[in-house]
Amino acid sequence: MAYLKAEELKPGMKLKSDFINERGRLFLAEGTVLTDHSIDRIRELMVPYISVVQDNDMEERHPEKKTQYEINTENFIKVYNDAHQVVKELIDSVRVGKRLDLDGIRETIGVFIDLILDDDNIVPKLQRIHMADEYTYYHSINVSILTILIGKWLNKPIKELRKLGYTGVFHDIGKCRVPSEILNKPDNLDAKEWSIMKEHPVYGYNILRKNNVLSNDVLMGVLMHHEREDGSGYPLCFKSEEIHTYGKIVAIADIFDAMMSDRVYRKKRPPFQVAEYIADRSFDSLDPYISRVFLQGITRFFVGNMVRLNDGRVGRIIYIYPQQPTKPVVLAEGEFLDFSRDIGISIVEIIG
Ligand SMILES: [Fe+2]
Repeated sequence: MAYLKAEELKPGMKLKSDFINERGRLFLAEGTVLTDHSIDRIRELMVPYISVVQDNDMEERHPEKKTQYEINTENFIKVYNDAHQVVKELIDSVRVGKRLDLDGIRETIGVFIDLILDDDNIVPKLQRIHMADEYTYYHSINVSILTILIGKWLNKPIKELRKLGYTGVFHDIGKCRVPSEILNKPDNLDAKEWSIMKEHPVYGYNILRKNNVLSNDVLMGVLMHHEREDGSGYPLCFKSEEIHTYGKIVAIADIFDAMMSDRVYRKKRPPFQVAEYIADRSFDSLDPYISRVFLQGITRFFVGNMVRLNDGRVGRIIYIYPQQPTKPVVLAEGEFLDFSRDIGISIVEIIG
């Protein structure tokens, strides 16, 4: 065994013992084979020394132990609930004017990346909470996960996935400065209220800039997540190439999660209707390439799901065309229904 400084760690080395973080949670298990990603995470925690297995102890085998700590989809709920706690504390602390402390969220984003690199089939498990207060926290988590997922599908390196995760989780942090009567108003906002609401990307940018702990890419993504390709967005009314890529990515993740969730002023919509909406918007307000990558990635999750149709029948999604990801083929009561043709039927609900 050897004790090494974090900067001496190399990919392929094995941890000699469980690595517990400062909050007492298992961070990396004994026997974990270090990767560039896990070494980055250890360095972020600023731990002075790490015990690793040296070549001459490589003979020691623990066949009953896992050789790699994996966050699989089975413990996703636990990961999600931990993230909820971290995000709630973080947003609430910013709301009362405290400094932004990234310690907890840094680890949460690292766990999200592990989870997504291991298995991206997590979208159907995202929690969609109805209560107005809790929605803010769950929406921030969901947008962070979806933003990392889009980054993965765009082949972004891990360093960028981390920044995208921060952009997703902080995209609406500026809403902390918007009065709750406006945020939770069930009716349409009047002109004055709407003008205050439209400032939340600027408020968010200023909160992050003042705290000076996140990169400029993250700040630009937060500032521009409501900008639109055709200039119809806010607060800057920027057009396509003026909009930071992170803003374009978060815009799609934000719309998808918001439309899939019940809100005080409207009911959630079925996934294929949401996908269709994003596909339509890719001709004017959303980035067409990122929209296509997102739709091809996201609709795959629904192959095999049972669906209820607007004619009352129940069927199963059996195929998604890569070039037409919002038009599945459904098998219902022995009949193949190809939604890429105008058959006058729609999917009203995914039922499992
Ligand atoms: Fe927003």
